[in-house]
Amino acid sequence: MKRFRRLRQSEKIRRFVRENEIYTQDLIYPLFVAEGEGITVEIPSMPGVFQYSVDALDTILDKVTERGIEAVLLFGIPVKKDECGSEAYNDNGVTQRAVRRIKEKYPQLLVIADVCLCEYTSHGHCGIVRGGEIVNDETLPFLSRAAVSLARAGADIIAPSDMMDGRVAAIRAALDDAGFYLVPIMSYSAKFASAFYGPFRDAAGSTPRFGDRKTYQMDIANAREAMREIDDDVDEGADMIIIKPALAYGDIMLRARERFDLPLIAYNVSGEYSMVKAAAERGWIDERRVVLEIMTSLKRAGADRIITYHALDIAEWIG
Ligand code: PBG
Repeated sequence: MKRFRRLRQSEKIRRFVRENEIYTQDLIYPLFVAEGEGITVEIPSMPGVFQYSVDALDTILDKVTERGIEAVLLFGIPVKKDECGSEAYNDNGVTQRAVRRIKEKYPQLLVIADVCLCEYTSHGHCGIVRGGEIVNDETLPFLSRAAVSLARAGADIIAPSDMMDGRVAAIRAALDDAGFYLVPIMSYSAKFASAFYGPFRDAAGSTPRFGDRKTYQMDIANAREAMREIDDDVDEGADMIIIKPALAYGDIMLRARERFDLPLIAYNVSGEYSMVKAAAERGWIDERRVVLEIMTSLKRAGADRIITYHALDIAEWIG
């Protein structure tokens, strides 16, 4: 008989043989930056998560830095939206101003800028629309301009989340041309057309006005295809890879971990957060234990870093 229980008999010995742990430096905290002044608005479907205007960012960034979180992921919410999402590449746009503000006041923070058009377009799609179609190649120059503009504002990492083909190569070339050859690309390579993004779209005002994202985001049923997407992004010059969503996609993370040696990031998305919050509010689950269990499962599956709305809470619990 094997005595597995020998290594489980006390917390001391369990800690000693533990294979995976969560550290504060694993966590990336997403921030929604709204255009305007004096804005601190809680997102109804994401209790504890707020939109902040640039002038109100300090309140949250003080908490982020005090708790030892080292990286934030920025999403801008502009007032003006148009067909081609021109605020996305406005050097004075809300996201660019937020980046400049953060780099000025909190230079120690790693600022990751999400690059996509959906928060900036009037139709809410991640690319340019022609005759009801989200056209791929025409979208690439817009994404490239947005990436360069964000790098110019001081973003440390560019994270394209649009799922157009060829965008990593296009963005890499544009960044290099503009002299930003040292700015890494963290690509959302395997991003699925998931129902778990619902609350985010409330938070970012990015719900598509017509149709859905299934012609560009991946079919939720496909794991092998996810490997081909990652392979291609690596070929095109991605430095780091995001897999999104996280909770129902541990198999994708595990496969990716076995095949790729670059940093892998899990995105624990809005719907995953809201489900936990809702159940915890009703007293149906132990929030802290459930959140830490989810995070541990992502590390166990192979994630190096985790983007999560729970980051502040986790940092407090483990810090
Ligand atoms: C933008 C984008 C989305 C998310 C991150 N970047 C929404 C979408 O693709 O509809 C979702 C994040 C979340 O749900 O937490 N394309």
